[in-house]
Amino acid sequence: MSADGRVLGRHLVLIGLMGAGKTTVGEICATRLGRPFVDVDDLVVATAGRTVAEIFATDGEAGFRRRERAAITDACASPEALVLATGGGAVLDADNRRALRAAGVVVWLVAPPTVLAARVASDDDRPLLAGDPVTTLTRLADARADCYEATAHVAVDTDGRTAAEVADRVLEAYESRGGRSCAG
Ligand code: S3P
Repeated sequence: MSADGRVLGRHLVLIGLMGAGKTTVGEICATRLGRPFVDVDDLVVATAGRTVAEIFATDGEAGFRRRERAAITDACASPEALVLATGGGAVLDADNRRALRAAGVVVWLVAPPTVLAARVASDDDRPLLAGDPVTTLTRLADARADCYEATAHVAVDTDGRTAAEVADRVLEAYESRGGRSCAG
C-alpha cells in the first residue's frame, strides 16, 4: 500500500473459504469491469491436466499447494489487470499472502459455515470436504481466520446477499481503494 493508503497493484483478488462465492462473484465483477477473470484452481487444473481431486490423490495436498503457488505467482505477474479468484487454502502460504496483497485489492468473502456448506453441496471436486462439510468448514474457518485477515484489505459479508449484490459491494471496496484508477 502507498503512503496515502492507496493500493499499489491493480488486480482485484477474491479470497475466502470454499463456498464463499469467489468464482461466481469474480465472474460478475470481471464482466462489469470488462477484464479477464482468472480462477487459480482452473489454472492449476489446466496446467496439470488433472482435476483437483486427482492432484490431491496422486501428489497429496503438498503437491497441490506447490502447483497453486506457481499459478498464483503467474497470475499476479499478469501485465493485464485481472479479477482473480483464489482457492480457499491459498492464504495458508506466506509467499502467496504477500504476493496477493501486493497484487491489488484483496477482498475476503465471508459467510457462516452452514451457508458455505449449503453452497458447495453439489460439488465433488473438493477433496478437503470429505466427511461432514459443516464440521470441516467450521474447523477451516477457525484455523484460517488469521491468514484471511492478514491478506485482505477488506471483508465483505455474503450471507443473505445474491452474488450480484456481493459484487456491488466488492466493486465499491475495489474502487474506494483506488483499484480501478491504477488499472491503467
Ligand atoms: C481448497 C479450496 C478449493 C481448492 C482445493 C483446496 C481449500 O478451492 O483449491 O480443493 O484448501 O480450501 P475453492 O475455495 O475455490 O473451492
